[in-house]
Amino acid sequence: IPVERIRNFSIIAHVDHGKSTLADRLLEITETISAQKKNEQVLDKLQVERERGITVKAQTATLFYDYNGEKYMLNLIDTPGHVDFNYEVARSLTACQGVILLVDANQGIQAQTVANFYLAFEKELVIIPVINKIDLKNAKPEQVKLQIQSLFDCKKEDILKISAKLGTGTDELLQRIVEQIPPPESDRKKPFKGLLFDSWYDKYRGAVANVAIIDGQVKKGDKIIAAHSMKQYEIQETGILYPDQTPTNILLAGQVGYIIANMKTTKEAQVGDTLFHLNSPVEPLPGFKPAKAMVFAGIYPTDQSEFNALRQAIERLILNDSSVTVIKDSSPALGQGWRLGFLGLLHMDVFCQRLDQEHNANVIITAPNVPYKVTIHGAKNIKQYGGAELTILNPVHFPDKQMITMCYEPMVNGTIITPDEYIGDIMKLVMGRRGVFKEQIYIDDSRVMLKAILPLNEIVIDFYDTLKGMTSGYASFDYEDSGFEETSLEKIDFQLNGQRCEELTCIAHISNVRTFAKKICNKLKETIPQQQFLIAIQATVNDGGKIIAREDIKPYRKDVTAKLYGGDVTRRQKLLKRQSEGKKRMRKIGNIDVPRDAFIKVLKR
Ligand code: GTP
Repeated sequence: IPVERIRNFSIIAHVDHGKSTLADRLLEITETISAQKKNEQVLDKLQVERERGITVKAQTATLFYDYNGEKYMLNLIDTPGHVDFNYEVARSLTACQGVILLVDANQGIQAQTVANFYLAFEKELVIIPVINKIDLKNAKPEQVKLQIQSLFDCKKEDILKISAKLGTGTDELLQRIVEQIPPPESDRKKPFKGLLFDSWYDKYRGAVANVAIIDGQVKKGDKIIAAHSMKQYEIQETGILYPDQTPTNILLAGQVGYIIANMKTTKEAQVGDTLFHLNSPVEPLPGFKPAKAMVFAGIYPTDQSEFNALRQAIERLILNDSSVTVIKDSSPALGQGWRLGFLGLLHMDVFCQRLDQEHNANVIITAPNVPYKVTIHGAKNIKQYGGAELTILNPVHFPDKQMITMCYEPMVNGTIITPDEYIGDIMKLVMGRRGVFKEQIYIDDSRVMLKAILPLNEIVIDFYDTLKGMTSGYASFDYEDSGFEETSLEKIDFQLNGQRCEELTCIAHISNVRTFAKKICNKLKETIPQQQFLIAIQATVNDGGKIIAREDIKPYRKDVTAKLYGGDVTRRQKLLKRQSEGKKRMRKIGNIDVPRDAFIKVLKR
């Protein structure tokens, strides 16, 4: 098929607006899959994806479509729809010339619709606006049309109305794709140049790379070079995803397909890399920004004997998700484990769920934190820490206050779309989280788009859930990285009768220090049992210099046995025996017995 009859496109949408359903329908009407299979979403392969109904890993498929008596090759690149996976959307779009912007006829434009629109707009792609789910009883396609017109500056006639579920309007959509999206600007006579835009790990064959052939051609036996590492590989197989891996003799410029070379891991098959033939180098394409981990959490086996099994499970998962960063870590309460970095909270959730489902791993996951930056002064300090600017991933490593010049925390640009009756509540929520409003735009007569700058730290825990809760699920939220900003931070330490518990050390914004310290002290009070003496739980700042919260646990002996006053001696002995047995499962901090799960309860998400 000549380049002029190739179309590379993507479907972008807010979560649940019907991307996967539409992708399946397109595969079905082009007879890429048979209609019997129609209820399983072909492109969503992972178990978590099926369970949660969200697409995690982008999947590509090739379909053939007859138009005006000629055969066209349409390459559909499926993209995930959630905030954390924006980097995957951006990377998939690089291989496209156009997108279908899908909007639910009932829910209308949502935060992610806007984010996705701008990703496509910045790349100057042709955008086909499509309203989906017009079969729904309470569909409001006319109102949604107005939203699309006002926000994205589209012509009314250009907006298509479809039902991905029933197939209404999908034929017309295929025609639009052929008519409106241009073919790739590719030259088959030039030397081979390929864009590696996705990769995954196959147990038997190593890394499989999704490649858009920009120029030239590539076939089995060719020797190629990966531009970022200048490493040489030999092509073992080329093919298209139809929708499963289907080997072809050759891949030609304009096409999108897969290659298998002797790349062992997805790290070698680096997304964004340019491939070319040995001895005919080309100018590499601008690579993608590597995905940045923004949320960190500790992961530990529930039982230390499962350490190796858990390590293997994590290694296996990372083969398919090179955006997770892994650092070994240990904690007195939790033992040996890791500190993992994720792109966002959903990314973390999905990873942990996969760990659980695919590997049966029993794990403890600690509350997440964000990376901070600090600058320090004093030649000696700088030498000791190996630089004047430090990135703090683990609160324990937060330096002494006296040596800090300035602290910085990561910020995000947040977009909230909501019915206007909730504006007041949302403003309160955002300001309570140290957010600053930037903009408020009506997208129709009752829905508003709010823009605000927020500290990432304030949204990683429960911002989204709170927002959903206070708006009965009607508000949507999306965010993008907005760099680091100056801030005031304080390290909080926790002590039990003067003994520091390192695993509880945390960093908080100056305005939250007291509330936060109180909360943890209260939790400790609830989870540490009474003992024979008084236990003072203290939260301190300035390395123990200043106490900011305190709770006492009263001694138990009198209280517990008081009930048995003058009672049966054996019962009393039994009770004391049970207590001494329990002690074996305790960790000693000074002379205090702390049950292992007390800290876990405090640390856990
Ligand atoms: P992510 O992959 O998580 O981004 O979701 P998605 O956009 O792929 O959504 P998906 O295709 O999974 O559809 C979400 C829900 O909407 C499913 O329950 C679909 O059955 C339903 N749905 C999709 N298209 C239509 C439609 O045209 N009409 C109706 N009534 N329901 C639809």
